[in-house]
Amino acid sequence: MPGTPLLMTFPVTATSHLLSEFRARGGYAALEKALTTMQPGDVTKEVTASGILGHGGAAFPVGRKWAVIKVADGQPHYLCANADEGEPGTFKDRWVLENNPHLLIESMLISSYALGVRNAFVYMRGEFDLPYRRLQAAIEEAYDAGYLGRKLYGTEHATDIVIIRGAGSYVCGEASGLLTSIEGKKGYPRNRPPRLTVKGLYQRPTVVNNVETLSNVAGIIRMGAEAFRKVGTAKSPGTQLVSISGHVVKPGVYEIEHGYPLSKFIYEDCGGMLGGRKLKGLIPGGISAKVLTGDDCKDLTYDHGSFDKAGSALGSGGMIAIAEGTCMVRLLQVMLRFWHHESCGQCTPCREGMGWMHRIIDRIVSGQGRMADIDQLIAISDANDGTTVCGMGDAAGYATVGFIAKFRDEFEYFIQHKRSKYGGVLEVGAAEVAHA
Ligand SMILES: Cc1cc2nc3c(=O)[nH]c(=O)nc-3n(C[C@H](O)[C@H](O)[C@H](O)COP(=O)(O)O)c2cc1C
Repeated sequence: MPGTPLLMTFPVTATSHLLSEFRARGGYAALEKALTTMQPGDVTKEVTASGILGHGGAAFPVGRKWAVIKVADGQPHYLCANADEGEPGTFKDRWVLENNPHLLIESMLISSYALGVRNAFVYMRGEFDLPYRRLQAAIEEAYDAGYLGRKLYGTEHATDIVIIRGAGSYVCGEASGLLTSIEGKKGYPRNRPPRLTVKGLYQRPTVVNNVETLSNVAGIIRMGAEAFRKVGTAKSPGTQLVSISGHVVKPGVYEIEHGYPLSKFIYEDCGGMLGGRKLKGLIPGGISAKVLTGDDCKDLTYDHGSFDKAGSALGSGGMIAIAEGTCMVRLLQVMLRFWHHESCGQCTPCREGMGWMHRIIDRIVSGQGRMADIDQLIAISDANDGTTVCGMGDAAGYATVGFIAKFRDEFEYFIQHKRSKYGGVLEVGAAEVAHA
């Protein structure tokens, strides 16, 4: 466990998704504490004081989002846990849903109390099967135990939680697209303002937070904001669940305390690179976060300040380690194929731009590329910047420009020689996994 665990405070066992075991480990005590000793505003104050930042990708301060909700304005308010987890390389929310679903439920109940929410939703990626079954079973257990659907601890507060399953659209993970999808419409993102905390689901004040973000709330209330802030760094309090894949010996989900040395994480906790290869590049937080070179990573610590300074971001915590011998041109091709496929088509620069970029990279990889194609990819990326309703077009553009900036020589080589610098197939793969 790299650093101090928060979400894993309850040790994970094969059956830790069960209510009986969750309660035996102190589960639902934070809910009782919040409802019996705190006013809703006190809960928000505690969450704000913890300094926790969102874990869905944009690192927005949770307290600042919650503070917009006027609990006593007489309107219905909604809470949505974002469990869409569509960002390639990211599989950490799934870990929470499968292994600690009651932590999310308890945290959502506390959050609903703070925000005056009667009806809360979990919007879940349609492809998730076990996470859905685990969370649905946990919700049923929580109803049977009287935590859901009933007034709690002598207060007027009661909450229902419903799971809404998506239908496999990446853009439905964007907070406003997600709400439009819950409303039963095509999940197009919406322009802001108005902010979702002013006009969200059914035009009512709504908080959308990532699953991991919300799952921290029970811990913050249980231990108090001050103790929470002692974990991590001043600017990045707490921990991050990192899902690491790619060419490391031990891929998986790890909880990392912010400020933890990145090299220690990759070379000790994750067992180093497959076959002892050099780290060529790192995508730190889902493919929307700019790629770093192995050299960029040398002295980094795992926190927002350090990664921002290096020109990237922690993003969604979905880390992809790339070993020497990997063709970055073909890697970008895979990414552009994804974005082209997932563009919802609402905004012209993204709908057309992703298609153009995908066709250009296909042309390069098929040996038909022209040198001008490289700058054309940059120009199309720039044209997406700030011209679309949601952040997908921007992010795809930044990531593409990042690949070219760091590995331009490989793109030039591919075009000149009509083949990859690294031959016909990715060299690091199954054979080395077998050796590891
Ligand atoms: C195209 C796109 C896809 C997104 N997908 C997700 C997702 O799957 N899960 C998630 O939590 N946030 C996703 N986001 C970010 C959400 O819009 C939003 O910022 C987040 O859910 C807020 O939660 P947080 O403040 O707790 O981070 C996505 C954003 C974009 C632009």
